[in-house]
Amino acid sequence: MQFRKLGKSELEIPVVGLGTWAIGGDSFWGGQDRENSVRTLQAGLETGKILIDTAPCYGSGTAEEIVGEAIRGHRDQVVLATKCGLRIDQRMRKLLSRESIMWEVEESLRRLGTDHIDLYQCHWPDLEGTPQEETATALYDLVKQGKVRAIGVSNYSVEQMEEFSKYAPLASLQPQYSLLERTIETAQLPWCREHDVGILSYGSLGAGLLSGKYTAEHRPSDRRTGFYSYYQEPKYTKALALVDVLKEIAQERGIPTSHVAIGWVTAQPGVTCALVGARTPAQALENLKAGDVVLTAEELGKIQAAYEKYEA
Ligand SMILES: NC(=O)c1ccc[n+]([C@@H]2O[C@H](COP(=O)([O-])OP(=O)(O)OC[C@H]3O[C@@H](n4cnc5c(N)ncnc54)[C@H](OP(=O)(O)O)[C@@H]3O)[C@@H](O)[C@H]2O)c1
Repeated sequence: MQFRKLGKSELEIPVVGLGTWAIGGDSFWGGQDRENSVRTLQAGLETGKILIDTAPCYGSGTAEEIVGEAIRGHRDQVVLATKCGLRIDQRMRKLLSRESIMWEVEESLRRLGTDHIDLYQCHWPDLEGTPQEETATALYDLVKQGKVRAIGVSNYSVEQMEEFSKYAPLASLQPQYSLLERTIETAQLPWCREHDVGILSYGSLGAGLLSGKYTAEHRPSDRRTGFYSYYQEPKYTKALALVDVLKEIAQERGIPTSHVAIGWVTAQPGVTCALVGARTPAQALENLKAGDVVLTAEELGKIQAAYEKYEA
């Protein structure tokens, strides 16, 4: 596994991290067995130091509890990232007031069974008029208290990150980023590179599509197909053609297709870590092994040509 420094923070993080949205049992992903979820994270822990990304809203606290259970006795082996700002007790209010953050952090620490969070991220921008100064200084106070080591944001625009950074050191952005969704390349990615703000991509496997296991006849039966436009026509057929090229490269190298998709994300300048959601121990082990993959310039060129056809 390769490691990279996260922006200007003191954190060194693996280039592939384990995501926990699906293993929180969320109905979006068609549900999940809790014991299997714990075993999935424990399988990851057997490989060495890992990064786990979670959030209170993944299964309304369940994902954080599962993480807490899985890492008990192994806390020093984990870069632990969680989030605030989507209140699970109040119908997912997007709220980042000082009072709300101070309440949320204690809830997360309790569920995670730890006394500190390595990376604490604002999940979505506040929609209730909280000034960014209030949010950023509250998070910075948590750093000063030793409850948080570094501060990140997620789903923020460049303007929002510029304002936030006036009041607290910003370590990272967590945006959606994969071969199927490259919107951040126009603004956020270059801004983060220029300002040494790290990036943890989410949806790095296109919610499973880039693993190569879905076909014209076999799509997932849960809510992701209605949510992500690349699971719908006319994009789906084009996405499968792009996946065929990833499959060819994977076959030539003797690696799983998922490794080519993840390796493409980690090859993009500015990306620190590709977050990948695993639902089984086998998926966790396979995804973490992608942390050793370095694609060649020729392979990246072939992927870019296939992407241009997908985008056309
Ligand atoms: N900040 C945000 O707003 C935000 C939003 C979304 C996600 N996230 C974070 O980012 C993480 C990653 O994103 P994601 O989980 O949404 O999407 P993803 O990583 O693109 O896809 C995850 C899904 O792909 C399938 N999969 C995973 N590994 C596989 C493998 N090796 N082979 C075949 N299939 C595999 C699994 O579903 P199936 O087996 O059912 O196909 C899994 O649930 C999340 O878990 C979460 O921590 C953050």
